[in-house]
Amino acid sequence: MAYNDAVEVFRDTEYPMMKGKVYLDHGGTTIYAKSLIENFSQKMIQNLYGNPHSASDPAMLSGHLVDSIRIQALSFFGADPEHFDLVFTANATAAIKLVGESFRDLAASNPRQPSFWYGYHKDAHTSIVGVRELSSDHHHCFINDDEVEDWLNEQVGPTGKRLNSEGLPGLFAYPGQSNMTGRRLPLGWTKRLRDCLTPSYQNTYSLLDAAALATTTQLDLSDPDAAPDFTAVSFYKIFGFPDIGALIIRKKSGHILGWRKYFGGGTVNGLTVIHEASMQRKDVTLHDGLEDGTLPFHSIIALGCAIEVHRRLYGSMMTISQHTSFLAHRLFHGMKTLHHYNGVPLCVIYTDPDRCTYGDATTQGSTVAFNIMRSDGTYIGHYLIERSANTKGIYLRSGGLCNAGGIASYLEIEPWQYKRAWSAGYRCGEGKIEVVNGKSTGVVRVSLGAMSTIADVDTFLAFLEEEYIEPMDKMMDLTKVDDLGIDSFGLEIMRTNDSGFASAANSAGHSFSSPGQVNARRMISSPNLKSPMRPREPRVYAQKSFYDRRPTTATSHVSQVSQVSQMFRPAPPVSYSQRPDTGRSMMPAESIRFSESIDRGYYPLMPGNSQNTHPQKGRNVLKFWKPRKPLMNATGNNR
Ligand SMILES: Cc1ncc(COP(=O)(O)O)c(C=O)c1O
Repeated sequence: MAYNDAVEVFRDTEYPMMKGKVYLDHGGTTIYAKSLIENFSQKMIQNLYGNPHSASDPAMLSGHLVDSIRIQALSFFGADPEHFDLVFTANATAAIKLVGESFRDLAASNPRQPSFWYGYHKDAHTSIVGVRELSSDHHHCFINDDEVEDWLNEQVGPTGKRLNSEGLPGLFAYPGQSNMTGRRLPLGWTKRLRDCLTPSYQNTYSLLDAAALATTTQLDLSDPDAAPDFTAVSFYKIFGFPDIGALIIRKKSGHILGWRKYFGGGTVNGLTVIHEASMQRKDVTLHDGLEDGTLPFHSIIALGCAIEVHRRLYGSMMTISQHTSFLAHRLFHGMKTLHHYNGVPLCVIYTDPDRCTYGDATTQGSTVAFNIMRSDGTYIGHYLIERSANTKGIYLRSGGLCNAGGIASYLEIEPWQYKRAWSAGYRCGEGKIEVVNGKSTGVVRVSLGAMSTIADVDTFLAFLEEEYIEPMDKMMDLTKVDDLGIDSFGLEIMRTNDSGFASAANSAGHSFSSPGQVNARRMISSPNLKSPMRPREPRVYAQKSFYDRRPTTATSHVSQVSQVSQMFRPAPPVSYSQRPDTGRSMMPAESIRFSESIDRGYYPLMPGNSQNTHPQKGRNVLKFWKPRKPLMNATGNNR
């Protein structure tokens, strides 16, 4: 972990487009350097490049360049061309699809069982999950690392049935890094699989999705015996430009791709079409038979420039790895220190502390996935946060992030809940329904890159603190609550009488004791609930600011906060006894199914009947709780 000071020196000159902006979506794409674009445009202006399929001098020039850049790209990943080949693709998805389609075509050659077995890890990106549709239902999602370990140890799974007991040709795919949480998965699995001697394992190949991993660490393919059989990458995620990807193939396993049926211009040596359909595939190299149509040769030329400039600016991926680890560590711990006036943490960060640690580049990349909670424990819509950050020139990503397994597991969303949200109108990427039954349907993601700086991280932390922390003075001041924009989230706000929260005693037997809370307001999202929020002693809390340890904090107000010394910080609540139903615009509260693990404890019980877990219409509550009209155009359950 070491901050790369050099970035401070060249950030403004090499990345002028980032000036005055805080770009935190490097997981989407990182940003290209000015020198890269200048080098590329010079090359384009000074040379005449033809289509490499032709035989002219301009075509030969492009062809030779493409060949040499292919070798450079392999060596960027430490892959020896003697053992590896590289196929240029549109992106990582196209690389993954190429492998999936080859397995499908291989399986089709067996008329008795035209299928292959496909196993994938739950942290996979949608592009990996999609391959399952080619496997004719012979697929399995590993729900955690332990299950993969058991499988690699050739142990029988929880179903009592061995995976791929039919002995079909197999493909095991997983991401080197989760695009949602940034967790880095064990790279040793590929070798472990290769070392299994059981025939069905010997016939199972590995596909590593390194699209996220390769962005801020060295993808090291120097040992062909340990390397994955197939590795997918997207170059724009590493260099910012050009928008192409690649499939890196371990030559010993490349024969599988020879089963692919489709051919296009450039991948065949000859074919007949009249009276007879015959064809001879190009087979001098693996890539010859797999790169259909004209190569994106201009983009490949740009890739050559990108590799050169990247090396000049950063030296090695090791420097980038240490730099981004340092920043991610600072970001993560900065977010962890943020608390509301009552001790409730501001950020719920999705991470797996048993398996990964911020600051340790072998287990964690420079990504933080989180949601933001109000002081009452309810979520603020992730899309609203993205929009709000956007208006401040802070660019991040929110939503399902194309990571259905990650979202479902970290947010504990069960398939029935997902389906219910879907029928209510939830659509990934639309940001219309952000919270269902008190559960967020997505997350906010901040991801850092090679040219991120301390100021980027600190400005973002200051934004969180300024926008979302509810300090005691804000809670005491009605106008300021509105300033927080809480009305805009479609909440209903309850006005207690002058005796404070104690007056809002509820049928579930909770009472509030806060004699000093004159005119304080409490918020709830549904009039269907008899009981308001969980009771909690109001506490005086001053932020123990993270910023006083950060010299380059971006906003001055923050240092004022830090001057208020740590006064009293109550422990954050361990669990919440109640949760408002936030799904009312989609379904009546009565229709909500109760799940022991998920909904228990969130709805008030019928007085005197602990067996009855149906939510109550809260007439008493309605007397006090006045629905407010959302100020913003809140479609669906836009919280
Ligand atoms: C882990 C991972 N896999 C696959 C992809 C898909 O990459 P592309 O859109 O370049 O095909 C992404 C994109 O974010 C990713 O992060």
